[in-house]
Amino acid sequence: MTIRFDDQVAIVTGAGGGLGRCHALELARRGAKVVVNDLGGARDGSGGSSEAAEAVVGEIEAAGGEAIANGANVADYEQVRAMVAAAVDKWGRVDVLVNNAGILRDKSFVKASLEDFQLVVDVHLMGSVNCTKAVWEVMREQKYGRIVMTTSSTGLYGNFGQANYGAAKLGVVGFMNTLHLEGQKYDIRVNCLAPVAATRMTEGLMPEEALALLQPEYVTPAVVFMVSPDAPSRQIISAGAGGYARVYLEETPGIWLAPDERDADHVAANWDRIADKTGAEEYQDGSGQSMKFLTRAAKELGIKTG
Ligand code: NAI
Repeated sequence: MTIRFDDQVAIVTGAGGGLGRCHALELARRGAKVVVNDLGGARDGSGGSSEAAEAVVGEIEAAGGEAIANGANVADYEQVRAMVAAAVDKWGRVDVLVNNAGILRDKSFVKASLEDFQLVVDVHLMGSVNCTKAVWEVMREQKYGRIVMTTSSTGLYGNFGQANYGAAKLGVVGFMNTLHLEGQKYDIRVNCLAPVAATRMTEGLMPEEALALLQPEYVTPAVVFMVSPDAPSRQIISAGAGGYARVYLEETPGIWLAPDERDADHVAANWDRIADKTGAEEYQDGSGQSMKFLTRAAKELGIKTG
């Protein structure tokens, strides 16, 4: 076992069951002291109890590890702040944050209420923001931090009945992109996981035979890699059933239209060329896109730059 977290402190949200529990157990097995956070509610976010988090702490301790249970609601910044303060009081630092807590309120958009939409955004997107905000200063000061956001195929690609969840889940990808840039100087690395696993969240959504192949334990290695000392940054890794892949956000080279062609008819007539993936690029930040257009325009118009 070469990837180790000795003397490191990790917080895993929503770690009372499913994927979070597996992440917490594996980080502890590799030497991390772990805050096992879980509100302990139902799949739709209702109710709450500390039992699930305490049971996982029991499992970690039984295996010789160190952990504390925490019942903070990630959507409540004051509770999250207190959770991070408790970890720092006890162990002096926070090296790893795995934003994993989540709920579902599935309904087609036509039937969905704005209250459900808000709640899903509050837990997935604002929950990740709250936890990251609470550890950010600690990680900057210690000049070390590893953060994982949990995105989803729904955010990346869409799934019927999950408009609220998809919006929140792609939100964390945008959040990662900028945190990666702002954290670089302090060795804070931020990545995203897009998991596929049989948990209570996917109960009833897939046939039994498929669920049997999708043990949540198989996803955890991707998370452990993304929070390890040699982790990459600003990557989206998808994982499930023993498969591991990287998701890219790319943009085509596109076309340049002369001043007298810049209308919707020319865009429509050139749609195939605009969408042609040949030479597609992944930018390192938003200015990559601006520079592409400016460079092309300057070249076409014979304007010298730089
Ligand atoms: P799960 O329902 O077993 O685990 C989610 C955990 O988060 C639960 O233990 C729950 O009590 C906790 N939680 C919910 N709201 C909370 C809050 N406000 N504060 C603190 N804890 C809270 O589901 P699963 O599948 O393990 O999901 C983990 C993450 O993975 C979620 O973010 C989910 O959206 C994401 N995901 C899961 C996929 C899958 O195939 N299972 C697919 C794509 C994403």
